[in-house]
Amino acid sequence: MTELSENLTTRIPKLTSKSELLDLILQLTHRQELIFLVFSQNSKSSGDSDPQKIKIQPFLWKSKPAFQSTHYIGKKIAHFNYTPSQMEKVVSETISQAFAQVTIQTSNERFVAVRKKEGFLLSSNSLKLKPAPLEHNRMKEHIFPDGSPSPVLHALGIMDEKGRVIPSARDKFTQMNRFLEMIRDLLPLDSLSQLRVADFGCGKAYLSFALYEWLSKNKKMEILLTGVDFNPELTQANQALADRLAYTGMKFVHGEIASFDAKELDMALCLHACDTATDDAILQGVKTGCKWILAAPCCQHELYAQIKMPFLKPLWKHGILKEKFASLLTDAFRAQFLEAMGYKVQIMEFVDSRHSPKNILIRAVKTQQGIQQNKWLDCLKWAEELGVKPYILSQQPPINNRGRFLFVVKCRKVPTSPCDI
Ligand SMILES: C[S@@+](CC[C@H](N)C(=O)[O-])C[C@H]1O[C@@H](n2cnc3c(N)ncnc32)[C@H](O)[C@@H]1O
Repeated sequence: MTELSENLTTRIPKLTSKSELLDLILQLTHRQELIFLVFSQNSKSSGDSDPQKIKIQPFLWKSKPAFQSTHYIGKKIAHFNYTPSQMEKVVSETISQAFAQVTIQTSNERFVAVRKKEGFLLSSNSLKLKPAPLEHNRMKEHIFPDGSPSPVLHALGIMDEKGRVIPSARDKFTQMNRFLEMIRDLLPLDSLSQLRVADFGCGKAYLSFALYEWLSKNKKMEILLTGVDFNPELTQANQALADRLAYTGMKFVHGEIASFDAKELDMALCLHACDTATDDAILQGVKTGCKWILAAPCCQHELYAQIKMPFLKPLWKHGILKEKFASLLTDAFRAQFLEAMGYKVQIMEFVDSRHSPKNILIRAVKTQQGIQQNKWLDCLKWAEELGVKPYILSQQPPINNRGRFLFVVKCRKVPTSPCDI
């Protein structure tokens, strides 16, 4: 790096020329550190065709490094794709235009360059919040280390062919690795010869493919993995990739999680399925007798509208607090429900919040205790006291894998509970 860019790690704003700024951007790009670049507040954008903002970010285009720019023009958005050399030209031209500010984001630093008459006033904020040794140790523990080529992660657009993580996929890479580590902590890897897994709300199935690769190739375990998603384009594309990789134990099913006809499963996974889809995944896990259930919830809306308790008014009159409280309450009910179903439950942050704000993981392991009727009744009572009806309590009660209801309780006040049976 030039002297300029080394100095930039300080927070002191520094007057910088246009060519120095371009040099910094190109160096970050060549070192694959750039996550995105935003040119904003175009002061002369009175014309209808001038973008007010341009965002440029790296991505894999037909398995090759490329860049996409997104132009925000009034209410319209336009996308353009570039090769790396085209992108350099575009950045060089765009810097010369009248954008008032340039924001440059890397995985650990954000630079902001504000246009002045004499050049750009450049400042930076380091996002390196964690001490280095911890990060280093975590890196070492990763199941898929950065820098180690992995054909499957390359095919998924997470790594390039040399094993370098694509900057824009860094968060996904970290989430996937940490989720696998959470699984590794649970599984008796030396004694387990087969694992039947469902990944509910699998999306592009980064987690499914990584898990399959790790267990079947490295641990020589038979793994039968079903990915479930109601987006048929995704399940078709995933199946095509599984076929191409000859992952014969993988299949993808298009449909609602709740109506998935699961037989016996050992493990239910759910990474950021939306709203009550997480509950459906947990319910499927319990119904199919899963030993292990791991769910990282996503957006949670269902209790938001129900939180009206007068004694919590100072909390719910602020939207953001209400939203966070609704999420925490939903997860507390999920944990309590799982305990009632005989699971030992841990709630943890599986990644740092800078990799995902949705970083709570519900990790449940089935115990020998069986159903805890008192805990189930506690759940119902707690919901009643709070005046809410959490989805997880309002569904048909779990049935065991012989089709029998696990238990029936008598209760009066929650009509959609097991007393309906
Ligand atoms: C935010 S994406 C997460 C995808 C993936 N698990 C990941 O972490 O990359 C949520 C996925 O869940 C799927 N989904 C949401 N609700 C669902 C439901 N009720 N049944 C099936 N799929 C659902 C969506 O189609 C989407 O692909």
